[in-house]
Amino acid sequence: MKNNFEFQNPTKLIFGKWTIAQLAQELPENEKILVTYGGGSVRQNGVYEQVCQALKGRNYVEFWGIEPNPTVETLRKAIALGKQEKVTYILAVGGGSVIDGTKLISSAIPYNGDAWELVLNSSKIGKMIPFASVLTIPATGSEMNSGAVISNAEKQEKFAFFSSYPKFSILDPTVTFSLPKFQIACGIADTFIHVLEQYLTVIEESPLMDRWAEGIMQTLIELAPKINADKTNYDVMSEFMLCATMALNGFTAMGVTQDWATHLIGHEITALHGTTHGQTLAIVILGTMKQLREQKKAKLLQFGERVFTIVEGTEEQRIDRTIEATEQFFRSIGLATKLKELNIGNETILKIKERFLFRGTRLGECGNVDGYITEEILKKCL
Ligand code: NZQ
Ligand code: ZN
Repeated sequence: MKNNFEFQNPTKLIFGKWTIAQLAQELPENEKILVTYGGGSVRQNGVYEQVCQALKGRNYVEFWGIEPNPTVETLRKAIALGKQEKVTYILAVGGGSVIDGTKLISSAIPYNGDAWELVLNSSKIGKMIPFASVLTIPATGSEMNSGAVISNAEKQEKFAFFSSYPKFSILDPTVTFSLPKFQIACGIADTFIHVLEQYLTVIEESPLMDRWAEGIMQTLIELAPKINADKTNYDVMSEFMLCATMALNGFTAMGVTQDWATHLIGHEITALHGTTHGQTLAIVILGTMKQLREQKKAKLLQFGERVFTIVEGTEEQRIDRTIEATEQFFRSIGLATKLKELNIGNETILKIKERFLFRGTRLGECGNVDGYITEEILKKCL
């Protein structure tokens, strides 16, 4: 372990079949609770009934309609409701979008200014309303981290900010059985790429973190065809759900250099086109690997050898095959791997380049991914 680090993750994880009922014991007494929801999938799969049952006798109000890639415009309405109702606790029931949105609601209820100011500058976050979650889709890790990504529809922007961790999160894998195949594929890609963003940087910083990251990626590769065959297989979906949480709760990041360029470029594409997060990343990561293959060479070779068993050929051939294997994996779960498949072309690439140059953005483990390199990365995704 070459680098010093600090680690603290306070979220209590409650994992397994029929655990939503435990809300009754886990939620503190005498709170005024705001329950936040997405667009209504929970009404079709029994989650809503289970939550209502567990909240019997509690003092609570509901807010519906937090959309995928949650917007500050929608969240302002929830914040106003929370202020008006003087809520003291928030329960997010949904995916990363509902949980991320709830992190902003929790930060902005005690704040006097506009919520978007907190997204742009999280040092303005003071007191927060405590919150917990019932997760319905494995993907983001938001159920066990302090990050949140919020969109501004008016400005066509999407930024991450950091606030606080859920007090507890309930993960019942049976709730994932109702997920559409596309959302599952996006969740697999998002999880895989969270690990890659914390792995595909510098070699020999921590053999333990490397093995841990490779273990999550190998597990996802093993699970994917089984999920495709039967998305209601509890053993398979529960393992996938745990992979997603473990991929972005700090456990693979101890003392290692991180990248995150793919995510931040992906957020720009989503801000401009509304594309689904995991799908967007599955395209951009391939461009990042291609453009930065020299800088990431040693780790790309290790990734290819240990995750895809690519050991034959010259170093350059092995890297080519590793990138191809990664693309093949995304295609095998039904995702697009080229921007043109989403009808995105040069105009968007130039817009993102200009945005990054204007903001002075420098991403990646070496801080060298500026507007110009981003343009090269995205051209390789066309
Ligand atoms: O809104 P409803 O009707 O509930 O439907 C949702 C939504 O349409 C549906 N869904 C969720 N659970 C379901 C279900 N449908 C059937 N059965 C279920 N059990 O799935 C759709 C997508 O939900 P969403 O919450 O948007 O998905 P996800 O968890 O992938 O979240 C994506 C958001 O999280 C951000 C992304 O940028 C994006 O805005 N991220 C958050 C991160 C974090 N907080 O750490 C990190 C990630 O890298 C990511 O950026
Ligand atoms: Zn992600």
